Amino acid sequence: MKKNILTGIRPTGKLHLGHYFGAVENWVKLQSEYNTFVEIADVQALTDNFNEPTKVRNNVKELTLGLLSAGIDPEKTTIFIQSMIPEIAELTVFYGNLVTMSRLYRNPTVKTEIAQKKALFGNEGQSVTYGFVGYPISQAADITIFEGQCVPVGEDQLPLIEQAREIVRKFNTIYGPTLIEPEPLLSEHKRIKGLDGNEKMGKSLGNTINLDDTKEEISAKIMNAITDPDKIRKDDPANPHVCMVYYYHKLVNKDNLETVCSECTKGERGCVSCKKELIEKMNEFLEPMRERRQYYEQHPEIVDQILSEGTKCARERAKSTMKRIKESMKINYNN
Ligand code: TRP
Repeated sequence: MKKNILTGIRPTGKLHLGHYFGAVENWVKLQSEYNTFVEIADVQALTDNFNEPTKVRNNVKELTLGLLSAGIDPEKTTIFIQSMIPEIAELTVFYGNLVTMSRLYRNPTVKTEIAQKKALFGNEGQSVTYGFVGYPISQAADITIFEGQCVPVGEDQLPLIEQAREIVRKFNTIYGPTLIEPEPLLSEHKRIKGLDGNEKMGKSLGNTINLDDTKEEISAKIMNAITDPDKIRKDDPANPHVCMVYYYHKLVNKDNLETVCSECTKGERGCVSCKKELIEKMNEFLEPMRERRQYYEQHPEIVDQILSEGTKCARERAKSTMKRIKESMKINYNN
């Protein structure tokens, strides 16, 4: 029997290269070997966007379209909306008893996010909500209710998987063996740098290459990308390892990488022609996604159907796990 994969993504913006190489590429690869569930995590997105419901709502469809365009195959993967599975919220409440407050505050991912909020809003007390600090508990519910054996994620998510594993062990110890302890499956790439050289590509940083960027947008963005600042003239030797253009060549131009690197190092490659080659390769890489996107944009009813059928299937699965959970917890009054 195929193993189950459960993973999730927050509907807060368009998919970019960071999402693709950090996570989605791996989901596309794994979907043939595993029974795959991909959750559109709207409830989790609301934990720090509760005051922007329209943004989250609009991005649910956008993200589904993005995932399908990126190669998530609805024949192989169940795509579903988190808020449509009330059993996840119910399970989050039960798991709330198994995690201490200090453990939540110690979670490195949450810690980093709280520090970022502090930097943005100053007063921590006003911005850190109960729901926000508790989202790792809700994520543990996401994973375990679908009996996710493997969770393909980027490195930043490891502390959340660890939290889920602890909850499972505690649950099984107290209520008897019921839940499966999930294992993380790390992506090949860690973090994808932004066009500006920032360690992270992110919408709020304005340094993304989006998967649905047009050819014109790709050209403009790559022509503006940062290269080796010490290279002044076209035939100066340069260091590709400090150049963002070379960095993206490594992602989409693997076959010609040695040439790009040696020509750049020897001063045999001008930045403009190097950028032009990258633009061409980037467009080749994005083209199949553009084609799939065009198809789904022309057939919005198919996207709706994929979401509603996926959600229905996910709900059945969640209900059956919940039945076992309630039996173990002795709150199975109806059966
Ligand atoms: N926390 C993940 C993110 O921010 C999204 C997510 C929600 C998730 N539920 C999940 C990831 C379950 C893995 C498993 O990207």
